[in-house]
Amino acid sequence: PKIPVKPQKPLIVALGGVLGLLAGVALAIVRSLFMGGIRNPQEIEAHTGLSVYSVVPFTQEQLLIEQRIAAKTPGLQLLTVSNPESPPVESLRSLRIALQFATLEAGNNRVMITGATPGVGKSFISANFAAIMAIAGKRVILIDADMRKGHIHQQFGTTRENGLSERLAGMIDDTRAIRREVIPNLDLITTGKLPLNPADMMMSETFSNLLDTLSAQYDLVVIDTPPVLVAADAAAVAPLAGAVLLVARADQTQLGELNESAKRLVQAGKPASGVIFNAMDMTRRHYGSYKYGGYRYTEYKYKAG
Ligand SMILES: Nc1ncnc2c1ncn2[C@@H]1O[C@H](COP(=O)(O)OP(=O)(O)OP(=O)(O)O)[C@@H](O)[C@H]1O
Ligand SMILES: [Mg+2]
Repeated sequence: PKIPVKPQKPLIVALGGVLGLLAGVALAIVRSLFMGGIRNPQEIEAHTGLSVYSVVPFTQEQLLIEQRIAAKTPGLQLLTVSNPESPPVESLRSLRIALQFATLEAGNNRVMITGATPGVGKSFISANFAAIMAIAGKRVILIDADMRKGHIHQQFGTTRENGLSERLAGMIDDTRAIRREVIPNLDLITTGKLPLNPADMMMSETFSNLLDTLSAQYDLVVIDTPPVLVAADAAAVAPLAGAVLLVARADQTQLGELNESAKRLVQAGKPASGVIFNAMDMTRRHYGSYKYGGYRYTEYKYKAG
């Protein structure tokens, strides 16, 4: 007679537990590989080989500025000017030093700001970084070269017309294309009316000649560009720049996207100089022990003040 095998309850429970745990771990790994955004700058340095030049905190104040832009409030809508002591501005100040080395090495005073995808903060960083350098006494020109949907003019309370696209189409000259002193020491070239062939324009000789002229006239040329993974011309423009910065947004940009963007820049012949890790939520608990460049400085300053 066959003796029924007693179900090995404890074994099954233990096995189930282990399997469940393994599945959970596997899921977490897969999730962070394919879906989750980058949570902290260490992940970038560990998994991409790119160095993080600056960590820019998220700030509620920028949301208020966006609301004022949406409400068409006239005037400057620039964080650096309205909130010069806010944490993102402090962080971008610290970027100065790192960049000085990168551009010196390249012998070229153009800094191109790009990123993998839309909405990571390329234009926010470009406008505020340009303003910070101007306030520090450099002669700076900011170019909105996102001729697909650039909107840097909004932060400066002006319109897009008579900007880069008209200048590259030969419809206007530099005197008209350059808005002088949008803040002291800072000149601006807006996108212009959005053209049908932005890629051709950005890859044209006219554009590279314009950059040569501007490089000679200014201490620093800051170029805001479309996302590398969306528009091929962003990578094509990179070799014209001395330093290329990739903006990655906390909890949004994925490691894969960052790696792919870096790869495209390498293929274009101009590897990324470094990453700006933007919109990091500094109030969250797991960032508590985290200290990084400008942020530590800000904290210290707030305590001292
Ligand atoms: N550190 C930050 N804190 C708060 N808000 C931010 C921060 N950085 C960017 N933002 C906001 O995120 C939104 C997207 O930023 P921005 O327009 O600069 O991105 P972008 O990469 O230039 O996007 P696009 O590719 O569409 O031009 C904007 O509303 C901006 O105000
Ligand atoms: Mg933009």
